[in-house]
Amino acid sequence: MGLGRNDAAALDAAGGLGTRDRFRLPADVLYLDGNSLGALPVGVPARLAAVVEDEWGSGLIRSWNDAGWMELVGRIAARIAPLVGAAPADLHLGDSTSVSLFKTMVAAARLQPGRRVLVVEPSTFPTDGYIAAGVADLLDLELRWCDPADPLAAVDEEVALLSLTHVDFRTGAMYDLSAITAGAHVRGAMVQWDLCHSVGAVPVDLTQADADFAVGCTYKYLNGGPGSPAFTWVSPRLQAAALQPITGWMGHATPFAMTRDYAPAAGMGQWASGTHPVLALSALESALEAFDGVTVEALRAASLSLTDLFIRLLDERLPDLEIVTPREHGRRGSQVSFRHPHAYAVVQALIARGVIGDFRDPDIARFGFTPLYLSHADVYDAVEHLVGVLAGEEYLRPEYAARNPVT
Ligand SMILES: Cc1ncc(COP(=O)(O)O)c(C=O)c1O
Repeated sequence: MGLGRNDAAALDAAGGLGTRDRFRLPADVLYLDGNSLGALPVGVPARLAAVVEDEWGSGLIRSWNDAGWMELVGRIAARIAPLVGAAPADLHLGDSTSVSLFKTMVAAARLQPGRRVLVVEPSTFPTDGYIAAGVADLLDLELRWCDPADPLAAVDEEVALLSLTHVDFRTGAMYDLSAITAGAHVRGAMVQWDLCHSVGAVPVDLTQADADFAVGCTYKYLNGGPGSPAFTWVSPRLQAAALQPITGWMGHATPFAMTRDYAPAAGMGQWASGTHPVLALSALESALEAFDGVTVEALRAASLSLTDLFIRLLDERLPDLEIVTPREHGRRGSQVSFRHPHAYAVVQALIARGVIGDFRDPDIARFGFTPLYLSHADVYDAVEHLVGVLAGEEYLRPEYAARNPVT
């Protein structure tokens, strides 16, 4: 006998993070897309309204001093730090992930002028490759693509930086961050980790791994809202020597001295370029309260329990589906993906039923499991809908064929 809904509900009753009510989710939606855009934490609307009306509206320019706008980055860094094994002082927030990648790649290359190669994994999220190509062009470096199954094989004495995404955005496959970092260091190269699909979902320990650079977005598992600012981490070993290239006034040692010549601020202060995005940072700070009292270990255990259940139900009920996500816990992030020739239409048909996942070219249907707000019963219900969509061939309906600009 296969697993029933009661079994899923029993898993919820046996323990859960108890954080579902920290989010505002529509009652008729099963949200399996938190790996794309996290759900809305309950405190964010009021916090944003207060920042807009009181701090901006009434406080006006005074709020830079009176409302702590200059301290926002540090306060948020303190909340994100334990999720990535970092000290708060080693994090900066404010740019998009793409701009953060640009800054860190340039800094890494300039630290090692004798090494002229950047190594990137070809199936990584496209922006990582695009930015690496742009940096290679700008600094006259070589861009080398590695074998995703063995990235270290491409790292030799010519390589300045190996840039990898820790959890793959299509398949959810996860690299061994510590082992790869150590392997690159043996070859004299630095490593940069893109943690977009890791932070807030899987444990990461940048300090223990002795990594060099890391970046990550905050709008997925951290629920910071659309376009919320990314973080940049630079090893404390490198901070004094690593210089980021967008040398704006907010990264100056004394921005309000208004001097002619640039002098970088100490530590991560120099990684700022322009004025802090106060509204976006305020939303993010409020959103991170959803993690209060939740350890990374508890998050990981809950995430694995949800993805295990999803995989088991697919195996039982849809055995022909090709699951592309690794089954070993050590190699799995917090999403599960499968291939289907009509993957786009399958996802559209699910969305029409209120089950929100997403599609990635060419044939991947992708489902993210955010343990803060998903239950095992949700997982069961989502599979029930998927079985209905596939059994009834709902995906063949013409309305599901037209591609939206955002998939
Ligand atoms: C792994 C990865 N890196 C980078 C990005 C893009 O980041 P941004 O739009 O913040 O530049 C994404 C977006 O989904 C991503 O999944």
